[in-house]
Amino acid sequence: MAHFDENARPFSNKWLDERIGINTLKRVLSTEYWIPKNINFLWAMGMVLAATFGMLLISGIFLLMYYIPDTKQAFDSVNYTIMSQVGYGWLWRHIHGVGASVVFLIIYIHMFTGIYYGSYKRGRELIWLSGMLLFVVFSAEAFSGYMLPWGQMSYWAGMVITNLFSGGSLHANGLVEWIRGDYIPGQAYLGRFFMLHVLLLPLVIIGLIVFHFGTLRLPHVNNKDGEEFDFAAEAEKYKAGNKKESKVIPFNPVFLSKDVFVMGIYFIFFFYLVFYHFEFAMDPVNFDPANGLKTPTHIYPEWYFLWSYEILRPFPTDPGLIAFAFAQVIFFALPFLDRSPNVAPANRRGIFKFWFWALLVDMIILTFMGKVPPVQPWSNIGLVAAVTFIALWILLPIITKLEKKL
Ligand code: HEM
Repeated sequence: MAHFDENARPFSNKWLDERIGINTLKRVLSTEYWIPKNINFLWAMGMVLAATFGMLLISGIFLLMYYIPDTKQAFDSVNYTIMSQVGYGWLWRHIHGVGASVVFLIIYIHMFTGIYYGSYKRGRELIWLSGMLLFVVFSAEAFSGYMLPWGQMSYWAGMVITNLFSGGSLHANGLVEWIRGDYIPGQAYLGRFFMLHVLLLPLVIIGLIVFHFGTLRLPHVNNKDGEEFDFAAEAEKYKAGNKKESKVIPFNPVFLSKDVFVMGIYFIFFFYLVFYHFEFAMDPVNFDPANGLKTPTHIYPEWYFLWSYEILRPFPTDPGLIAFAFAQVIFFALPFLDRSPNVAPANRRGIFKFWFWALLVDMIILTFMGKVPPVQPWSNIGLVAAVTFIALWILLPIITKLEKKL
């Protein structure tokens, strides 16, 4: 049995180290977790995401104290009880609503930073794949949360999205009813989406964040030039006092202080939205209670789903479903479709540079087209943008195969 110091004060550093190796943990996870110096504020987005998820969890716990998952009471429990009867209920709701919207903005920035710098390649494939799993589960979390106020858009967006599982002309037998627990969204439907939103999906997200951090530990984060170097040797230089010469800094306290600085600026922006512009995160149609007999004239999802919705909409049912399924899974394949050996910023990578900007602009166009009603000329622009999206992904292996080694 290991030797324990009888005189160590309970819960002191020494006491904890002897029992759970707290000093080793600190070294591995913070003071000797090395980060390249050559990175910019975009590398703080991961921590900004983690912090926003924390805000969503805390505000969600407060909302859960008064929310009632019952089709007859859900709408009032949110719009009346929480918003006007509970002290600061409105604040928690605005934090939760704004957080749910802004978290997707940050996720997209984080994803496109990874694509721009090629951070999904050469040892970093699992970082990308775990990130994509987070994206999918976050999407399910946002969708299930959107059902809970049981307003018109909750009901009808839920109807449209669950209808996707009818499988077009395949008429997947009873799958939609199995998902809804009924023929139409009702109590069984609300109950299961409530469970998913407050229990199962948050647990999966927490597990995936831990896994995502784990996948970062060995390959280390990428840097602005995609430069590869010996982290252990650079860390030795740093520890020996050659801090200027070393290409790395410890995560804690040096990089963490920069993360906290970026988070500070982010939270000023975040709370500005919470207090002055929360309405952008709340659809006016959802302030009418759910009514299964009255279809809203125009049904659309929240802004962060619009690009994939617009890939579905311009096509007839079956090709539309295939295109939609393609859009959902294709980002997972990125590390394997990019055939170039170069890990470098897109602006140094020949045709890939154009591919990157074309994809970004195309997804922004799809987002705008997904919001407008399906009338001309928007329908045609949406169709061209949807075909371009698919073509860009089909072209990716070819253009990256042709790329010269830097
Ligand atoms: C939603 C929760 C997420 C959290 C909390 C999170 C957190 C982080 C953190 C802390 C880092 C390291 C620092 C940084 O580069 O920002 C990181 C890196 C990374 N993440 Fe995420 N992430 C999330 C989602 C995603 C998604 C959706 C993707 C894309 C599919 C992704 C892909 C990556 C990649 C490729 C890196 C490596 C960056 C590099 O090596 O330079 N992450 N993530």
